[in-house]
Amino acid sequence: LDSADADPFEIAAQAADDIARITGVERHDIALTLGSGWGKAAELIGETTATIPATEVTGFSKPALEGHVGTLRSVRTPRGRNVLVIGARTHFYEGHGPRRVVHSVRTAAATGARTMVLTNGAGGIKPTWKPGTPVLISDHINLTGSTPLEGATFIDLTDLYALRLRDLARTIDPSLDEGVYCQFTGPQYETPAEVRMAKAIGGHIVGMSTALEAIAARQAGMEVLGFSLITNMAAGIQTTPLSHQEVIEAGREAEPVISSLLARVIGAL
Ligand code: 6GU
Repeated sequence: LDSADADPFEIAAQAADDIARITGVERHDIALTLGSGWGKAAELIGETTATIPATEVTGFSKPALEGHVGTLRSVRTPRGRNVLVIGARTHFYEGHGPRRVVHSVRTAAATGARTMVLTNGAGGIKPTWKPGTPVLISDHINLTGSTPLEGATFIDLTDLYALRLRDLARTIDPSLDEGVYCQFTGPQYETPAEVRMAKAIGGHIVGMSTALEAIAARQAGMEVLGFSLITNMAAGIQTTPLSHQEVIEAGREAEPVISSLLARVIGAL
């Protein structure tokens, strides 16, 4: 993936072949990427039929961050749909470049998935969003200065986070709020001034993932649904310092609520 003349789609096709061979599942219908706090949320979706260490699949790099499990799972829902659960996210701040960041999304598309569900743990700009609140992503602002697209690839991003899927999620939980996700590069959290900027340009959520992946999913023709778990208020909104530990703990506490939400939404897709 790192070599300029490598074809990222060819490598994704190889990865999809690895997954089909190891899981025995020929085709996946839905893909789900688990962000901080969402790790256990996949357990109610259905029966895990196979678990693969990501290192056994072509093109996946080792994620070494607490709260991020480096496995791929094949899960069968009660209605018989196969979900590829991606617990091996590569973040932009790891410095591998956008091809590696979106490799799991392109692999999911190559396994047959037509729906990409992206989840993350993120900072909230709205003071009414207490830690532990799940929020639908309505749109994004890509502040990474990067893109997974190469060359003159002009892609429409209108309705990137499909209204159809957001409406469906709201039939499951009518109280779900939504907001615009700003992807910063990280790994440092934002300064209060950067958070004020994000708010001024129309953002409601700040994080370090998702936007680049959503772009790649749209390029692959997938329909995208995004959820942020607000693990803390963004810098300057909350007055106490931000910590990774706090992010992990908010995820743990929100687990029962977001697990059932995710299982019901995926069950309804
Ligand atoms: Cl406040 N910012 C970013 N970029 N990512 C986060 C976060 C904040 N809280 C959790 N993840």
